[in-house]
Amino acid sequence: MKSKTRLDNQTAIVTGSSSGIGKACAIALGQAGANVVVNYAGNSRGAEAAVYEIEAAGGKAIAVKADVSKEDQVRDMFKTAIDTYGTVDILINNAGLQKDASFIDMTLDDWNFVLGVNLTGQFLCAREAAREFLRRGPRPEMSVALGKIICMSSVHELIPWAGHVNYAASKGGVMLFMKSIAQELGEHKIRVNSIAPGAIRTPINRMAWETPEAEQELLKLIPYGRIGETEDIGNLAVWLASDESDYIHGQTIIMDGGMALYPGFRENG
Ligand code: BGC
Repeated sequence: MKSKTRLDNQTAIVTGSSSGIGKACAIALGQAGANVVVNYAGNSRGAEAAVYEIEAAGGKAIAVKADVSKEDQVRDMFKTAIDTYGTVDILINNAGLQKDASFIDMTLDDWNFVLGVNLTGQFLCAREAAREFLRRGPRPEMSVALGKIICMSSVHELIPWAGHVNYAASKGGVMLFMKSIAQELGEHKIRVNSIAPGAIRTPINRMAWETPEAEQELLKLIPYGRIGETEDIGNLAVWLASDESDYIHGQTIIMDGGMALYPGFRENG
């Protein structure tokens, strides 16, 4: 019997997969048998490296440049994916960034930039994916669901974050965006969920782990006692995209070593 965690011949678009969590998701999906569209906005070398790694392991991948906050570029990316692989089965709505500033000093550009990629980008890509799933119709031999959308959120969809209000607002937005489209698209068998990573070792939070002192401070926030690795998230993305998780719909899965457990209350309160 075919393993339910295999994604053979399904096509996945992973936005923002030239580095960090997105790159690990792209590689993990490729290893699980999916054709992967490695999307990037600027880092073509990182995207090519992800493609190379997938191909070296016997998988199929292409790199596609698109700024997910731009409607025409998102449309073109989906068109390229469909022209190359026939359809799209899985969207990992991952592209995201931080532009931190204290609230008082935050500019409208800082705000719009982060909301544009982290929230509007997820809207544009999910809408395009849902349209393609409906156009293509069911292929039960591939997957029970018509299509799967996985939104990359953050523990900061729950945990307020001073100095990062644009980012926290974008992830809070992703939470109700994801749940609302899950409510709307479930009847079509489009399965929608989020992954909410905690502190994962990537370029986005390098300052929080690159010195031993910073790492010790960060570990105070993680009851399980280690910083997450991108592969942790890649493994979950594969499972959440597979039929093994078919009855999970409209949920955020927090993957954070316990960061969202309010560790400050261990010896306080
Ligand atoms: C942020 C990281 C941060 C982590 C935990 C993530 O969503 O992008 O910079 O380390 O949340 O606070």
